[in-house]
Amino acid sequence: MSSNKQISEFRVRPIGSFDADLEVPGDKSISHRSAMIAGLARGTSTITGFLPSEDCLNTLAAVRACGVGCDILEEMPGFGPTAMRIHGKAMQLEAPAEPIDCGNSGTGMRLLAGLLAGQSFESELFGDESLSGRPMGRITDPLGLMGARIETLGAKPGCAPLRIHASKLQPIRYELPMASAQVKSAVLLAGLFCEGETTVVQPAVTRDHTERMFEAFGLSLSEADNVISIEGGQVPEGREFRVPGDISSAAFWVVAAAARPGARLVVRNVGLNPTRTAVLDVVERMGATVIRRPVEAGGGEPYGDVEIHGAELSGTDLVRAEIPNLIDEIPVIAVAAALAKGRTRIREAKELRVKETDRVATTVENLRAMGGVVEEFEDGMEVEGGAPLKGAEVRSYGDHRIAMAFAIAGLFADGETRVLDTACVNTSYPGFSHHLDAVLRGCRDAAEYALPTRPTNS
Ligand code: S3P
Repeated sequence: MSSNKQISEFRVRPIGSFDADLEVPGDKSISHRSAMIAGLARGTSTITGFLPSEDCLNTLAAVRACGVGCDILEEMPGFGPTAMRIHGKAMQLEAPAEPIDCGNSGTGMRLLAGLLAGQSFESELFGDESLSGRPMGRITDPLGLMGARIETLGAKPGCAPLRIHASKLQPIRYELPMASAQVKSAVLLAGLFCEGETTVVQPAVTRDHTERMFEAFGLSLSEADNVISIEGGQVPEGREFRVPGDISSAAFWVVAAAARPGARLVVRNVGLNPTRTAVLDVVERMGATVIRRPVEAGGGEPYGDVEIHGAELSGTDLVRAEIPNLIDEIPVIAVAAALAKGRTRIREAKELRVKETDRVATTVENLRAMGGVVEEFEDGMEVEGGAPLKGAEVRSYGDHRIAMAFAIAGLFADGETRVLDTACVNTSYPGFSHHLDAVLRGCRDAAEYALPTRPTNS
C-alpha cells in the first residue's frame, strides 16, 4: 500500500501488539478557520501545519476566490500546501467570479456562509452529493435573523446550493438549538461584519477554535458560561499561526493502541484543546493508560504529545456533555466498544445522523457485518462488546471517518477485512494509508511513519 490518492480499497489483516511513533496531519477544523481568519486579517499571516486535505483545500480556494493572496511555502507532495503566507484583505473581500465548491465539507460551507452573508456582493456555495443533503437551515435561520438573504437551491428543502445575496447585517443574540460549533462559528463570523454586539448562547461546550483564533488574531470577545459575544467592526491582525495535528485523526491510532494489550503508541504535536480531547478520557475510562505531555503553547491552540498503552478494555457510558467533544470520533469509539468487555452506551448523539453519512446507520451496519453486537437507537447505539470480530467486506459510503474506523476494526478481526471506497480519507487524513501500511508492517521507527513535505516556491 502507498499514500497514493487513487487507492480505493483497504485490505487489512489482524496484527498483534504494536509500537508506533507518529505525527498526524494538521487539524481540519483549525485549518479551515486559519484560511478564513488570515484572509480577513490586516497584513500577512504565516500558517504552518495546514491540513492539505480536500476539505481544507476547498476552503483555501474559496478564500482565494474572494481576492485573498496566498504564497505556498511548503507542501505534502501529491496532496497540497502545508505552509503558506496569506495576504489578508483587512475585511474587504471581493466578489468571487464563480460559484464556490465546498466539496464534502459542512464546516467549509457553513462557516463560509457566515463570512459571506454580510457582504455587498452576491455569492453561491455548492457541494458534493453528501453535502447537498445536509441541513443548512441551522445556519440560514440565524443568519436570516441578522438580515441575511440566503436561498437554499437544493433538490432537498433547506439544502445547498446556497445563493447568498448582498445584505447589511444587524447583530443578534442567538440561542443555538443544537450544540454545534459550525453554527456558532457562522454566527460569530457574520457578527464581525455588523455594527454592535453579536451573542451566541450554546447549550453545551463545543469546540472553541473560532473563539481562540479570533483572540490569537487580536480580536476581543467575551465568553462566560457558554455565552459568547463579539463586537462587530474589529479587524484581525495578521500573525504567525501553527496548526497542531488533528486529534480526530490521531483517534484512529489511539483506539488501535488502547484496545491491544501490550501496544504502545506515541502521537506527537497533536492538538490538546480540551473541547476536543474527550476521546482520550473515554479510552482511559475503558482501561487504557493515557499520558498527556502538553507543550507550553503561548497563544493559539494547546498541543503536545500523547502516549497510549493498551489494555483489555471495558465498556463505558458516554456522558451527554462529552458528546460534542468527541462527535467525530464516535465511529471509532464504537469499534473500541465492540472490542471491550461489557456494554457501551452512546446516546444523545442524534447529530451523528446528519454528518457526511448517517453515522449511526453506517457504523451499526458495518459493525454488524463484522460480527459486532449492537443495538440501534434514533439518538445513537449501544454496543455489547466482546463478540469476536470477523473479517468482512464493508463500505465507507464515501465517509472518510467510516472508512478509517473500519480499517482499525480490521486490525482486530479474524481474517481479511476489505474496506471499499476509501479515496474519501483524503477529506481529512492525507497519509492515512501510509500510516496503516506502516502499522501493518510492524514499523517502530518514527522515520517510517513520517509523511513527506517539501518546500515550494510556487
Ligand atoms: C466542526 C464541528 C462539528 C464536527 C465537524 C467539524 C467544526 O460539527 O462534527 O467535523 O470545525 O466546527 P457540528 O458543529 O455541526 O457539530
